[in-house]
Amino acid sequence: MTENQTAAERVVRGGTLDAMAALGQSRAPEPVQRFRYPDGHVGWLVTGHALVRAVLADPRFSSRAELKRTPVHRPGAEPFIGRPAPPGWFIDLDPPDHTRFRRLLAGQFTLRRMNALRPGIERIVGEQLDALERAGEPADLVERFALPVPLRVICELLGVPATEHETVRRESTSLLSLAATAEDGATALEHLTELFRTLIGHKRGRPGDDVLSGLVSSGELSDEEVAGACVLLLTAGHETVASALGLGTLVLLCHEEQLAVLRDGTTSAHAAVEEFLRYLPVFHVGIPRGALEDVELGGRPIRAGDTVTLMLPAANRDPGRFGDPEELDLARGGTGHIAFGYGVHQCIGQHLARIEMRIGFAELLRRFPGLRLAVRTEEIFLSRNGIACGVHRLPVTW
Ligand code: HEM
Repeated sequence: MTENQTAAERVVRGGTLDAMAALGQSRAPEPVQRFRYPDGHVGWLVTGHALVRAVLADPRFSSRAELKRTPVHRPGAEPFIGRPAPPGWFIDLDPPDHTRFRRLLAGQFTLRRMNALRPGIERIVGEQLDALERAGEPADLVERFALPVPLRVICELLGVPATEHETVRRESTSLLSLAATAEDGATALEHLTELFRTLIGHKRGRPGDDVLSGLVSSGELSDEEVAGACVLLLTAGHETVASALGLGTLVLLCHEEQLAVLRDGTTSAHAAVEEFLRYLPVFHVGIPRGALEDVELGGRPIRAGDTVTLMLPAANRDPGRFGDPEELDLARGGTGHIAFGYGVHQCIGQHLARIEMRIGFAELLRRFPGLRLAVRTEEIFLSRNGIACGVHRLPVTW
């Protein structure tokens, strides 16, 4: 292992461990542990792969907003904690309410439809790589590439015009920020919802080939539900992919031998992306569920009303499930990871995320064969201010 690699391991693993430590969590020896939530509730953290999957597939664990607590101190979420989800926020609903939204959206996010977006994604990736090149060396890969690519892709898919991109970026960062105040969080949600209310009016008159138009013309949701569902898709759909592109590039540039196998085609972009999804701690804060009844989980007595938080990054590095889990090994293809969750709430945007990452990494390496970090790895800081864990900036040269 080179000195560079060791440093990167520290950045990424140290960050992951810090994030987990901040939640009072350590994997060994218990895959189900007691955990005190910021509001004082004593619930649970689950880190074992099999148990995380079991909870996600078990209807006795609810996603309803009013039944779960946030595992991290997040003032911006306070207006929503302990209350029913805002209209359209189906991530915070259980079946059958949740099913109503998923059924409507399923057709919009099929692999076939996402594959049809490829030319558009290739165009956006190409334009952002042009912008990176134009910025001159050293350039910030997050600002020119990792953030704008998923932002532009999800905006085009939803039917949000380019003139609103900057607003969308600012408000969704605020909505998802762990540091935002309750007022900032509520204001950001209202601004984004208002943007979609306005767009709904436009699409009703002149529908386009976008998800928003599809939802409006289905006639099955109220305007508030359409607007809420679109805000959810927008926010869930760009910060996560931006984190994966930024963190993934950092990790890759620090693993020379892995970079080489990806460059020479020994490992496909397809396999590499699955291993990135397993390895990168994108959803670092964990996903909470509320127990609807008493359940025994991994020998521990979960009581009705307890919040149980599922640590996907820990599950994806469970030594009982993956050999050498702390090693980045692109050739293994990450099979069996649960970075997109599991069960009825499994990520609706996963096909899109995968396509963006495959095209993004492949084109980045093709266009910049000499790509490398412009600063020492010690100078790159993990950003854990948002729901997704990423890097604030990634200065690169080529
Ligand atoms: C690397 C990128 C991504 C990761 C790691 C990721 C991860 C996840 C995870 C773990 C869940 C499950 C949450 C739960 O069970 O409570 C989820 C749900 C969701 N994701 Fe993603 N996601 C990514 C990209 C996207 C994209 C591109 C979109 C937009 C198209 C998106 C939209 C959503 C939505 C709307 C849900 C809620 C689904 C439901 O409740 O039925 N995600 N995502």
